[in-house]
Amino acid sequence: MKCVIVGCLAFFCLIANAISAETAEITQSDSVTPLLQNASGRNATSLNGQWTYIIDPYENGYYNHRYEPHANGYFKNAKMSSPSELLEYNFETADKISVPGDWNTQKDHLYLYEGTVWYNKDFTFSKRSDQRYFLYFGAVNYKAIVYVNGEKVGEHEGGFTSFNFDVTAFLKSGDNFVTVKVDNRRERDQVPTVNTDWWNYGGITRSVSIVSVPQAYLADYQIQLSPNNNQTIEGKVVVAGALTQSSEVTVTIAELGVKETIKLNNQGNATFAINARPRLWSPESPVLYDVEFSYNGEIIRDRIGFRSIKTNGENIELNGKSIFLKGISIHEESPLTSGRAWSEEDARTLLQWAKELGCNFVRLAHYPHNEHMLRMADEMGLLVWSEIPVYWTVLFNNNAVYKKAEQQLAEMIHRDINRASIVMWSMANETPSSDARLTFITNLINHARELDNTRLITAAMDTHSTTKNGILIDDPLANAVDVIGINSYCGWYVSEASKCSDLRWESKYQKPIIMSELGAGALQGLHGDSNERWTEEFQESVYIHNLAMVDNISALRGLSPWILKDFRSPRRPLNNIQDFWNRKGLVSEKGIKKKAWYVLRDYYKTK
Ligand code: GCU
Repeated sequence: MKCVIVGCLAFFCLIANAISAETAEITQSDSVTPLLQNASGRNATSLNGQWTYIIDPYENGYYNHRYEPHANGYFKNAKMSSPSELLEYNFETADKISVPGDWNTQKDHLYLYEGTVWYNKDFTFSKRSDQRYFLYFGAVNYKAIVYVNGEKVGEHEGGFTSFNFDVTAFLKSGDNFVTVKVDNRRERDQVPTVNTDWWNYGGITRSVSIVSVPQAYLADYQIQLSPNNNQTIEGKVVVAGALTQSSEVTVTIAELGVKETIKLNNQGNATFAINARPRLWSPESPVLYDVEFSYNGEIIRDRIGFRSIKTNGENIELNGKSIFLKGISIHEESPLTSGRAWSEEDARTLLQWAKELGCNFVRLAHYPHNEHMLRMADEMGLLVWSEIPVYWTVLFNNNAVYKKAEQQLAEMIHRDINRASIVMWSMANETPSSDARLTFITNLINHARELDNTRLITAAMDTHSTTKNGILIDDPLANAVDVIGINSYCGWYVSEASKCSDLRWESKYQKPIIMSELGAGALQGLHGDSNERWTEEFQESVYIHNLAMVDNISALRGLSPWILKDFRSPRRPLNNIQDFWNRKGLVSEKGIKKKAWYVLRDYYKTK
């Protein structure tokens, strides 16, 4: 099988059939430990299950009474050594909590809690000298300080992205413990900032594991269909860790008869391009191939779909064919317990509901969802809009805030770069127009394109001009994206349902438009006249008239109405109607469909 020289990978292409197995020394800085690609496809020890926890609203386990960091804080997990010893905390006798999972819906006294909770997990481990060990977190909301055996291994900020620490030097054979200081307080200079329309679920909200890799290991890889032709599979590999003699990575796709040896350069990385004719992935035919990467004794298994996505004028083209995105927006809430969703079962239920609605597309709002959602979307054939929580009024003129947003963007793209289902990265949601905001988000767009030039860029916008017969899409941010997302609540926040169908939308830009939000609230089971707010009939009427409205938007190529399921929000207190639930779901928090569900389902049947 021959490698082809592919211009877009100009930097260095590799001749697939290794001419010589020269034993190039591989130098690789091992001070920087990048996020492990595909941790779940590696040799891992799960730390999921029961942890003990201590609530610490005054951060007493971290600071002394002079507000100086403790040398012997709760992270030491101390045990009393004599009956007279003064010890004012004890993880052994503390209450238990499940990891993964938010604390708000596990413990009634933590339902509205915002602050620090200490988590501790005792475990035994058998350590091998020929392995490196990474402590991997799917996500912790919002700030985490992580300790192993009483020693700090690192910190992470950001509630919805994966991170890991090299803990090889901290682990030992026999008894170990991991302690995590989790703080979900909202702060003005965070991403998101203090005002969001979703519950601030705190905790170790996704899975935790210890991943073992060889001393020199395949840290990262990217593999996809060449954007230039669908008979070339291309990508890159990055090796990290100690020096090694092994300078070759093997990629195997048995079903395609591919077994490729990739020679690494002296920095431990390489790009590759392989002639192959994969069946293309699509919602109608979500073909995934078993791909194996092997290096230095480690075999990493992944399931990869090959497809192309691009825009062509006002069209979105999947595998060269224009497509209409029949979507729905989804928050990461467990479909029936309504806490943070984290499991494969949660993902399957939420995405099966979307499929039942007739969707080929989901907007995973407003932050990167757990990896099960993306892998399930790959398997089920759902195109995905994935988003970072640059939401509403983050501090656009603050460079430290920009760096936080950029870090979360990089972590989102890094984890999910190989998911066929993701076709667009969303930079923001409903951000007020200003020069600072335009600069901030344009910089994010440029960074996203550097990290991944194979997907589309979008953002959901809600500021437009009104014209004599409707609305003009003229947000300058629309000029910077590939696909324009529009949030509009005609009949709910503005105007009245019967007037929406006559609303005319125009755009200054010749680009595809996705109506990324529309909708209305309804309490499931409340019935009345269609002009009576909160009834299912009111919501049904808003959908009927909005769907007539969107059919008049000539550049419309998709929609993702707000939202699949009612979800918890501290902004929705109306008692006996909302009770801290946002009621715009087409399905109640008990999984019961409302009348508007059938309106959207029947509409998608016509598409
Ligand atoms: C906004 C926002 C959502 C919010 C919704 C609503 O458009 O993007 O996060 O939940 O409107 O008001 O219900």
